[in-house]
Amino acid sequence: MAATIGIVGSGAVGRALAAHVVASGRNVVLCNSRSPATLESAVDDLGPRASALETSAVAAADLVVLAIPWHVVVPLLEQLPPWHGRTLIDATAPASHLRLPQPHDLGGLTSSELVQASAAGARVVKAFCTLPASVLALPPANAAGRRVMFLSGDDAEARAVVSVLIDDIGYAPVDLGSLAAGSALQQPGGPLAGLDLRRAD
Ligand SMILES: NC(=O)c1ccc[n+]([C@@H]2O[C@H](COP(=O)([O-])OP(=O)(O)OC[C@H]3O[C@@H](n4cnc5c(N)ncnc54)[C@H](OP(=O)(O)O)[C@@H]3O)[C@@H](O)[C@H]2O)c1
Repeated sequence: MAATIGIVGSGAVGRALAAHVVASGRNVVLCNSRSPATLESAVDDLGPRASALETSAVAAADLVVLAIPWHVVVPLLEQLPPWHGRTLIDATAPASHLRLPQPHDLGGLTSSELVQASAAGARVVKAFCTLPASVLALPPANAAGRRVMFLSGDDAEARAVVSVLIDDIGYAPVDLGSLAAGSALQQPGGPLAGLDLRRAD
């Protein structure tokens, strides 16, 4: 398991996940569209396990979470260096219902398949995208059980790594299998979008 998690995007989703990652004892590196200096206060809030770097350095981590607006996903991925088998967790959502600009017609692909096609050599796992950021920011576990976190991807080893991360930060992982099938379930309009379940342990 990677000791340092890179989170590309430090908005509502990125910061919520960063808080759980540092609470689990791992280090986190963050970036935004501007500069590391603009994340000084967010890093202070997260404590000594957090730091801010340029996007290219954050994306070089062994395990990277993508938490940026959908309309900048493909342009950003296309300018990053090859992934060489590293795992990319796709937490993004193609929020077309918000009438945001769309970089591409998805052409029958799920959004995560488009992410996979745009991130050469990455092992893409879709996760952390079905719950609102306000819920992601809450503690993942309470007396009623651990909140369920779905994941999907085509590489079994990468899915296992992400399952361990999900488990370690306090959620109950539910592996949906392939990227195409699992992502269609998770993305906006899919039956798992917004579904907030708990598993009693
Ligand atoms: N919000 C939700 O409830 C929710 C739930 C599930 C999934 N999602 C999905 O998760 C993704 C992030 O959502 P969010 O609500 O966290 O968005 P957000 O609050 O608007 O934050 C987006 C972050 O991405 C950064 N960013 C934009 N372009 C970038 C670039 N080229 N390089 C590095 N960082 C960049 C922004 O930087 P700046 O601060 O410099 O602009 C900001 O830190 C979206 O795809 C969204 O659809 C959202």
